Amino acid sequence: MRVGYLQFGPIFGKKQANRERVADFLSDVKADLIVLPEFFASGYVFESREELMELAEEDGGESFAFLNDLSRRMGSAIVGSIAERDGDSCYNTCVLSSGGEIKARYRKVHLFDREKELFAPGDLPFDVYDLGGVKIGMMVCFDWVFPEAMRALALKGAQIVCHPSNLVLPYCPRAMITRCIENGVYAITTNRVGTEARAGLDLTFIGMSQVVGPRGEVLMRANEEEEDLRIIDIDPARADNKMITERNHLIDDRRPEFYDDICKRETPSPESFT
Ligand code: ACM
Repeated sequence: MRVGYLQFGPIFGKKQANRERVADFLSDVKADLIVLPEFFASGYVFESREELMELAEEDGGESFAFLNDLSRRMGSAIVGSIAERDGDSCYNTCVLSSGGEIKARYRKVHLFDREKELFAPGDLPFDVYDLGGVKIGMMVCFDWVFPEAMRALALKGAQIVCHPSNLVLPYCPRAMITRCIENGVYAITTNRVGTEARAGLDLTFIGMSQVVGPRGEVLMRANEEEEDLRIIDIDPARADNKMITERNHLIDDRRPEFYDDICKRETPSPESFT
């Protein structure tokens, strides 16, 4: 299966131009699955909720239609996230488009920093979609810091986790190696590059998009600054082998009776936590 990332630098608010750049990058590409960055069309640093509401799109809006048109023309599945307006709320919605249709969607569950003031937290479960016999899961950027997200996808049989991102902290490329090892899955993290100086912030995105294999192999990785489109051949069936030693199965060897508290909302934080 040919999978890849498109790391590029969207210009804030220039949705049409950003979509055109994506289409140009991908015009001659032959692949089965391509992952775009988080908010590939709008950019990331919204000044205010008003600005977000203006740039966000309802389900079926132009950026959704764009992905559908692209997936139909390319004959390839495409994953990316879009600021989605739903009534008075906005979600960071990740979609998988294939054959000209949105086949799966996920709304970012773990909001990062200022996103908490702008977006509603996701209200859809972590789930997998069957793409021609390959099980695809989706998570978005900061979900990486919660191992439960990738575990939930692995427990549902995900073989490849698509991970559109706008990373600014330096940890994720290393952390995703562990996420892949502990779950025995592939991950395609697509980050963006460039800087957005808006809303009193000066955010530099760290690039380093990557494809990681089920034993933590970094199969390919972009650098911190340059736009980069890369495709690689992978064997998704490798993610079905959960034996990390002859006697250790990553899923069956879990002992949830010793850590079932991690799934309880009401688990108290020790007083020493700040
Ligand atoms: C992030 O979740 N966009 C850092």
